Amino acid sequence: MNFHKIRFVLCICFLLMVSAGPLFTQENVHFLIDASKTGAKIDRNLFGQFAENLGHGLYEGIWVGPDSPIPNTRGIRKDVVTALRVLKVPNVRWPGGCFADQYHWRKGIGPAAQRPATLNSAWGGVVDTNSFGTDEFMDFIQQIGSQAYVSVNVGSGTPQEAAEWLEYMTAAQHTALAKERTANGHPDPYKVGFMGIGNESWSCGGDMTADYYLSQLKIYSRFVGNLNPAQIGPNHMLKIAVGPGFPETEWTEAVMKGWKQHDWSWDFDGLSLHWYTVPNGWPPSTPSTGFGVEDYSKTLKSTLFMDEFLRKQEAVMDKYDPEKKVALVVDEWGVWHASLPGSNPSFLVQQNSLRDAILASLNLNIFARHADRVRMSNIAQMINVLQAMILTDKEKMVVTPTYYVYKMYVPFQDSTFVAIDFDPGTVHRNGITLPRVDALAAKDASGKLWLEITNLDPDKPVEIDAEINGLTFKSAKGETLTAPAVDSINTFAKPSAVVPKPVSASVKGGRLTLTVEPKSVTVLSLEP
Ligand code: AHR
Repeated sequence: MNFHKIRFVLCICFLLMVSAGPLFTQENVHFLIDASKTGAKIDRNLFGQFAENLGHGLYEGIWVGPDSPIPNTRGIRKDVVTALRVLKVPNVRWPGGCFADQYHWRKGIGPAAQRPATLNSAWGGVVDTNSFGTDEFMDFIQQIGSQAYVSVNVGSGTPQEAAEWLEYMTAAQHTALAKERTANGHPDPYKVGFMGIGNESWSCGGDMTADYYLSQLKIYSRFVGNLNPAQIGPNHMLKIAVGPGFPETEWTEAVMKGWKQHDWSWDFDGLSLHWYTVPNGWPPSTPSTGFGVEDYSKTLKSTLFMDEFLRKQEAVMDKYDPEKKVALVVDEWGVWHASLPGSNPSFLVQQNSLRDAILASLNLNIFARHADRVRMSNIAQMINVLQAMILTDKEKMVVTPTYYVYKMYVPFQDSTFVAIDFDPGTVHRNGITLPRVDALAAKDASGKLWLEITNLDPDKPVEIDAEINGLTFKSAKGETLTAPAVDSINTFAKPSAVVPKPVSASVKGGRLTLTVEPKSVTVLSLEP
């Protein structure tokens, strides 16, 4: 290459660097943390899951049947159980969703060959063999080491049917229903940690008014109970009432006002809240693959509304329940994209990208900041449906970027919130302004401090300078989740495109510094 050519190439390089300037710079964000000042407990139930009888969420995703060539334990996929155990899933909500208000539990017990085939009219009208029923769900819960959260049928069931279901599951005495459970192979009563009384009763659960629902709630709360002697007292089952699925607060007003006036005969412990991120509004139209920074920014902007939504509902709850006895339970949330082309639209199949993982971390951080009231959440949904942890196709299985966020957040389960004082800065893309950084700090039971940092900027790294008082630490290490593009995904062919990699920070005299990569989620522990 002659001199002129070299000069030309250098000029081009320089011009490229100038025009793409921001790509080559990084921003600084300063954190001030006083680790001796702790806030609310970040309940492990904030990291719950939702597994509805919908599409391939249960059938194929969890249940393949004992005769399947896919390795299984009593019909439940071994690969899925192994993957879920890593997440220490605190609770699983089942059987719905909209399906719950059409579910009649008796059809799903007893010898498989004798169970009737029914139609899943909530989700595509497909035939349901009922081979995954109560005993299979409880087996699954036990295999993954979780707790059961069952939703009872208020819409098309009766209090009697729900009471008998709870008796079947939890009675220790030799009642006819407990004997039936024993005959089905389960002499010991099951534990049921949570019971949802209906689902979206303002819509698919029966299109009820708040006052009508309140009258149903009182009856179900009074007559449907957990009989397991191990769950009398402090370990009692928590009852969760249907709450809002829209920013308006009338429903919450009516139900909480009713709660304030409750007498000894009925009560509830949690108010459910449903909110999906649907960036372009209903019907969901954002693609889950092959998108760019514009969709990325729009989706993250849209998901941040969760904070305002919680605040509005919490203000009403505070009015009737200033002691925060009733928890806000976000038992359906996540991003809802357009169904994958070629899939059954009723099965809500979507891919899961780095963008969705970042969205998960933003929501988990919001919940943690509201932890005095928000004490449980259930991402929708666990496998093969909406913002899933796991995707399966026959014998194949892959874990998603969202799965890794849940894995990285395990140390935050039952930790104690520690406030971070910081200016997140801003990032502007396609006319959308986002915070540049989000972060969460918490102390675990041993007193160790954990720090999460989300860099929303799709292009620029961020230099974090954290001044941490009230704690001595010598090093900081952890993991970062990022990938080449905002739409990077894991597939059966390339399962490791988006996986966490180790990261460490430099530590000097109570200060921690590290550079977090663009579009990333990082979790660090501060080591004494
Ligand atoms: O998660 C899918 C559906 O979304 C649930 O069945 C319903 O409760 C909600 O509208």
